[in-house]
Amino acid sequence: MKKTIRDYDLNGKRVLIRCDFNVPLKDGKIIDDTRIRASLETIQYAIQENAKVILFSHLGRVKEKADLAKNDLRVVSVRLSELLNKKVAFVDETRGEKVQEAVQNLQDGDVLLIQNTRYEDLDGKKESSNDQELGEYWASLGDIFINDAFGTAHRAHASNVGIASHLPSGVGFLIEKELKALSLLENPKRPFTVIMGGSKVEDKIGVIENLITKADFLIIGGAMAFTFLKADGRNIGSSLLDSQNIDFCKKILAQYRDKILLPKDVEVALELSEGTPHHTCLLRDIQENEMGLDLGPQTIEEIRKILKDSQTVLWNGPLGAYEVDSYKVATEEVLKILTSEEKCVILGGGDIVAAASKLGYADKVTHASTGGGATLEYLEGKKLPGIECIENQ
Ligand code: 3PG
Repeated sequence: MKKTIRDYDLNGKRVLIRCDFNVPLKDGKIIDDTRIRASLETIQYAIQENAKVILFSHLGRVKEKADLAKNDLRVVSVRLSELLNKKVAFVDETRGEKVQEAVQNLQDGDVLLIQNTRYEDLDGKKESSNDQELGEYWASLGDIFINDAFGTAHRAHASNVGIASHLPSGVGFLIEKELKALSLLENPKRPFTVIMGGSKVEDKIGVIENLITKADFLIIGGAMAFTFLKADGRNIGSSLLDSQNIDFCKKILAQYRDKILLPKDVEVALELSEGTPHHTCLLRDIQENEMGLDLGPQTIEEIRKILKDSQTVLWNGPLGAYEVDSYKVATEEVLKILTSEEKCVILGGGDIVAAASKLGYADKVTHASTGGGATLEYLEGKKLPGIECIENQ
C-alpha cells in the first residue's frame, strides 16, 4: 500500500501536487476538462487542510519552440480557477526567480500552477529524461510531494519520479481511486468479460496476452477485429488491416477460440465519412472496395447474450468509428446494455472513455479511467514508475 495525502499533516506546508492536466485543446480552448475535474478532490482537500498548494502538470509534447505557445498551461489555470471557485495563480516559467517568488508569496490555502513541465524538454529533454538536477530543484520548492497524475504514471519523468526521490511522498485521491477500481480486475466476479476495440492490434498485444488468460470471454470489435477475421481466413473487403500482427491473431485464436467472439455482420461503406451511403452485411458479402466501420445487429445480439450474465466487464477501445454518427451504434448500444444492469463495468481509459463521455454514459459506469497509455500498461501487468516511486505505508 502506498502512502496517501491523508497520511500527512498538510497545515502550513508547501505541498507539491503532480496532476495530469494534459487535456485536449482546439484553437487554444479546452474541449474536454474531465482530467481537470478529476483532480479537484485532491486539490480541494489540500486547500481545506491549509496547505500552500503548488501544482505541476505537462501539456502536450514540446519538441521545438513553436510547441511552447501551443502547450501553454495558462488556459488550465483559468478553467481550474472556475471549477474551484477560487483564484489560481499562474507562473509562466518552470524555474528561476519568478517561480521562487510566486511560491514565497503563497499564503496557507492558496493555489499556484507552474508552467508546463515539458517546457523543460526544449533544452535537452530535462523533464522527460528525469534530469536529476531538475527533479531536485522542483522538490526544493515544497515540503511534501503528492502524485495524482494517474495518466502520466507510466512515465518516469522529473516531475513525478524525480521530485518523489527528494521529498516525503504520497498518492492523491485520483490515483487511489484508479488503483482501487483497476484492482477489482485482479480477482473479478465471474463471468469476467473483456471487450477490446480500437484500430490497431499492435497497441493491444500486451493487454490481450495478459487478460485472455484471466477472462471468461473476449469480445473483439472496432477496426482491430478485421485483423483477427483476416487471420481466421474471413473476407474483410478493404477494411483496416494491421498486417504485421496477423500471426499474433492466429496464435490467440488457435489457443483461446472458445472464449473469443468476433463480428459476424458489419456496417460497411466505401469510405469513412458522414453522408456516404452505408449498409449492413454478413462478412461474406463485403465487397472488395467496402470497409467495415461498425458492428452489425446480429453481432450486437451475440454481445448482449454474453453480457447478460457477465458480472465484471472491462472495456478498452470503441466498437466502431463512433466519431461519425452513423457508426456509433454498436458502441452506444453496448454502453446502454452495460449501464442498464448492476455489474462492475470498468472503462479502460483513452478512446472508450471519450466515446462514453460523448454519448453520455461515462458517469454511469463503475469506473472510467483517466489514463490512456498508463491504463494500458497497468492492464498489461506492468509496474507504473509514477506509482512505484511513492513511499510505502
Ligand atoms: C496521456 O495523455 O496519456 C498522458 O498525459 C501522458 O502523455 P504522453 O503520452 O504525452 O506522455
